[in-house]
Amino acid sequence: MANQRVSVHGMWSSRAVFIMATVGSAVGLGNIWKFPYITGEYGGGAFVIVYLLCIALIGIPIMMAEVLLGRRGRSSPINTMKRLAREQGSSPAWSIVGYSGVVAGFLILSFYSVVAGWALAYIFQAASGGLNDVSATDAKALFEGLIGSPDQLMIWHSLFMIMTMAVVARGVRDGLERAINILMPALFVMLLIMVGYAFVEGDIKRGLGFMFNIDFSKVFQICVEEAGQVQCRFTGEPLLVAMGQAFFTLSLGMGAIMAYGAYVPNHASITGATVTIAAADTVVALLAGIAIFPIVFASGLEPAAGPGLIFQTLPIAFGNMVGGQWFGTVFFILLVFAAWSSAISISEPAVAWLVESRKWARAHAAMVIGVFAWLLGIGSVLSFNLWAGEEYRWFGKTLFDLKDYLASNIMLPLGGLLIALFVAYGAGRQMALEELSISRQRLFDAWWVIIRYISPIGIALVFLNSVGLL
Ligand code: PHE
Repeated sequence: MANQRVSVHGMWSSRAVFIMATVGSAVGLGNIWKFPYITGEYGGGAFVIVYLLCIALIGIPIMMAEVLLGRRGRSSPINTMKRLAREQGSSPAWSIVGYSGVVAGFLILSFYSVVAGWALAYIFQAASGGLNDVSATDAKALFEGLIGSPDQLMIWHSLFMIMTMAVVARGVRDGLERAINILMPALFVMLLIMVGYAFVEGDIKRGLGFMFNIDFSKVFQICVEEAGQVQCRFTGEPLLVAMGQAFFTLSLGMGAIMAYGAYVPNHASITGATVTIAAADTVVALLAGIAIFPIVFASGLEPAAGPGLIFQTLPIAFGNMVGGQWFGTVFFILLVFAAWSSAISISEPAVAWLVESRKWARAHAAMVIGVFAWLLGIGSVLSFNLWAGEEYRWFGKTLFDLKDYLASNIMLPLGGLLIALFVAYGAGRQMALEELSISRQRLFDAWWVIIRYISPIGIALVFLNSVGLL
């Protein structure tokens, strides 16, 4: 029956605390920064639908799998996978899931911290009145000024990394837990107010139309305007990116959720918690999109502006609304908190592993990881200025884009695929039954079919499609 193990890293005091911490991990820059900008790049409605399908059919079932594995193993993802593979008589090679998660974590942290740094910079911009009355052109110039300066970016990147590691060093429980309880709901309310602003001042019809009008041809092709002519090429990329985003936004496929699952109390139900977390995450992403696109269209901006999208649009709203100086400041503070609680979870698999296997103190592990991720982050900083040129690009992508692409669109889905396969075939039904203890047999059976067939086949199809084999 249920296991008697406890985690050496501490435990969540209740299921509610687990839900809050995991929402803290899931809701972050992925929802508010990345979701709107890639939706803009990949043409809107159809992309959003594919993303939602991936959340429902791949994300939620795999999140359940990660939590149940974590709770069963009660250690860092690397050791959990080793331990469970041994107990279930499977190959020790399954621990590759844990190792690849640690690598993906470094890649993600090294660009996440830079973007979170932009949000930090904008707190001060907003607070000092720097966004008051800005026009679309001013907002763009302001953002380009920031990313064009390696010095400024380095300062903010360093500050964010120090903030993150300071909390990681203290442990998950004592870290941000209390703050998240208040700040996440506050962020949610702020987003609702932004949506209200978009309804009144933005081009709500075009904004919503862009997000929800489904033109499926866009899922299989990318169109760019060149010299007045629209050029389209067929590609599996939008599908791959939508799936990658489902993993990224739910913090899946790299062990963050498995690590948090290791601290879940024994009798807490996993299914309900997972659905709540995924729903909260999805609502936040959709609200961010609904708040941003009407402003994009009302201000004559390009939805495909790229990673700077929210930093070029939200300031226009803050600059022109009543009380915008105060409002913008609070918004960026909350955004930083959302990013902070996510960044902490990105490093948890690596930290927990070093503490277990090297017997290091958490503070020591946090410092080592922070330094590595910070160094790797310098490449992300330079991608926007000194290394922005063609000679520093691979496959047409800057180092920043490349790290994001590799981690989010390839490593996370691959990790997720392996997790589904391990639960379904490596560990087997009995373990899942015991951990999930779903009272309604039909519900369990449905999940079992999804995790055995639908999620792995879905991921495999998207991969095959993106390399042109389908
Ligand atoms: N889910 C987080 C976000 O949306 C990012 C993240 C990715 C966190 C992977 C943990 C692991 O911002």
